[in-house]
Amino acid sequence: MREKDVKKVVIEGYGAIAGGGVPCCGPSEACCCGPSRVEDIGMRIGYSREELESVPEGANLGLGCGNPVALASLCEGETVLDLGSGPGMDCFLAAGRVGETGRVIGVDMTPEMLERARENARRGGYRNVEFRLGEIENLPVADGSVDVVISNCVINLSPDKPRVFREAYRVLKPGGRLVVSDIVLQGELPKKVRESTAAYLGCISGAVLKEEYLRMMEEAGFQDVEVVEESGFPLDYMATEPGARAVAESLSLTVEELEDLLGKVISAKIRAHKG
Ligand SMILES: C[S@@+](CC[C@H](N)C(=O)[O-])C[C@H]1O[C@@H](n2cnc3c(N)ncnc32)[C@H](O)[C@@H]1O
Repeated sequence: MREKDVKKVVIEGYGAIAGGGVPCCGPSEACCCGPSRVEDIGMRIGYSREELESVPEGANLGLGCGNPVALASLCEGETVLDLGSGPGMDCFLAAGRVGETGRVIGVDMTPEMLERARENARRGGYRNVEFRLGEIENLPVADGSVDVVISNCVINLSPDKPRVFREAYRVLKPGGRLVVSDIVLQGELPKKVRESTAAYLGCISGAVLKEEYLRMMEEAGFQDVEVVEESGFPLDYMATEPGARAVAESLSLTVEELEDLLGKVISAKIRAHKG
């Protein structure tokens, strides 16, 4: 897919999800299920029950693949930027950590997601969070103005990842941190998966090899790039979780193909900083 087509597919796909529709983020899971199911998924990817209960209902759609705020060591008064903020889950958690004197900015290019996030912020009474419409490849944020950039299961969806990392570097203050949870690969995907729109929206086929991902971060200027944690996805994920199952079914994967695919897809939590 060309870059323009990728963005169109992503905006349409996540627009439908924001509107309460279809399943989504691949092996990292799906938002089609009821609230308790979404909460289970949230706990499986690293949120505590208290964190899940502290945010407005509908802020967690089960779209993430980790809990970047937990790894970001946020301090009172800091400015945080969330790349691809979706319905706002991580922004709201960050808002609690940086307090009244801090600030959180979420950027997302899908208008329906932004609308949903703003409504969640209004219902939750968050005065230190704002959501901006924009692309993570062209951040609507000033140079050197942010202490911490976070992102949760989004950069895999970008058709120009080196540019996303250069933009994150540009907006960070000297010494600022980047903390991401994302899907990366530990082997090349089969052609039919690479060419599948469902697998792209499911955060699988836009992902790149872990080494390539880390190299892009370093080439953007980041220092001490470190994989803090990584985890795979068990076979029962693809068989039982609706979003993941939709990807598997749309590709008519055999059990062997499924096993092979799952062996190649991991969720990585990565930290780095600007020197
Ligand atoms: C898998 S969801 C993750 C949402 C959120 N981070 C979470 O964990 O709930 C991906 C989000 O990233 C947004 N997104 C994807 N590519 C983007 C881009 N190039 N620029 C801005 N937003 C993007 C989508 O609109 C969607 O809201």
